[in-house]
Amino acid sequence: MIKINDEEFRLWSALIYEYTGIVIRPEKAYLIENRLAEMTSEMGCPTFGELYQRIRYSADQAVKEKVINLMTTQETSFFRDPAVFKALESLLRNEVIPAMRKAGSNYPRLRVWSAACSHGQEPYTLAMILAEVVPDIDNWDLTIVATDIADNAFRKASLGRYTDMEVKRGLDQVRLKRYFVNNNGLWQICDRIRAMIYFQKVNLITDNLNSLGTFDLVFCRNVLIYFNQTTKQAVLEKISRALNREARLFVGSTESASQISPMFIPVHRYDVVYYTRSNGRPVPCSAGQTFGIAPLAFSGTRA
Ligand SMILES: C[S@@+](CC[C@H](N)C(=O)[O-])C[C@H]1O[C@@H](n2cnc3c(N)ncnc32)[C@H](O)[C@@H]1O
Repeated sequence: MIKINDEEFRLWSALIYEYTGIVIRPEKAYLIENRLAEMTSEMGCPTFGELYQRIRYSADQAVKEKVINLMTTQETSFFRDPAVFKALESLLRNEVIPAMRKAGSNYPRLRVWSAACSHGQEPYTLAMILAEVVPDIDNWDLTIVATDIADNAFRKASLGRYTDMEVKRGLDQVRLKRYFVNNNGLWQICDRIRAMIYFQKVNLITDNLNSLGTFDLVFCRNVLIYFNQTTKQAVLEKISRALNREARLFVGSTESASQISPMFIPVHRYDVVYYTRSNGRPVPCSAGQTFGIAPLAFSGTRA
């Protein structure tokens, strides 16, 4: 297999950072070698340096998308971190639904965002839970928005079709039978659950999130870990502006929104931690302000 040299690594890690915000540290240079190896031979490039030149200066958006698809880690599963979804059920039953009813609307509105949805298991898990917990769901204006940067992930998510292996990871038999049909060996999510979700391609770093609207529940799990501190803060700032007043934010079990940004306070409830906005008000955004990412900060060579 072709090896990446230090200069090639420097160019590639900067390009991946520019496209995605993902930081590849020198000791993880093998990720670039492994994941882009096939692309080098497909494009007839003898070195990673040549592949870089071809992609960097290509007008073909598809090759850039391919790099993003290959360099994003899309690990996910149904009911990933089950305690979070147990907590969500309790939160909905004990707090969110009663509050909506108390507000007196005939058509309560609840908006949920899965902000790095990968292959869709997370938004489908959310949809199944909502279908089970909201008794008069047809009388609700309920939307789940599922977004991801990676073309391939987002497309697979919107298809809602999974292998045996994928459904075995996290999904119990009762829900498998209730919500999926087996179609030529693949498990297809039923229309009722699929129709609850809007899928959209969104880069959390470069895209303006205003068009997504605002949300009551946001799941931004297991993606902040790939970013540096500045990028994490920028992403959380954008998310905070997409939150409704009483909104709750869930991040991954190894991530902490309050340690990254003072805009969030942790709430320890139902055996998990989720976050609310610290001031309860939208964070003001000065005109024309953007949240691009800072230049890649580490230096040094590969291990
Ligand atoms: C490890 S998966 C997490 C999936 C799901 N949230 C979960 O916890 O199971 C990380 C996802 O983040 C996406 N991602 C990485 N960088 C992103 C960015 N800048 N904007 C949006 N999504 C991004 C990847 O494409 C990938 O699908």
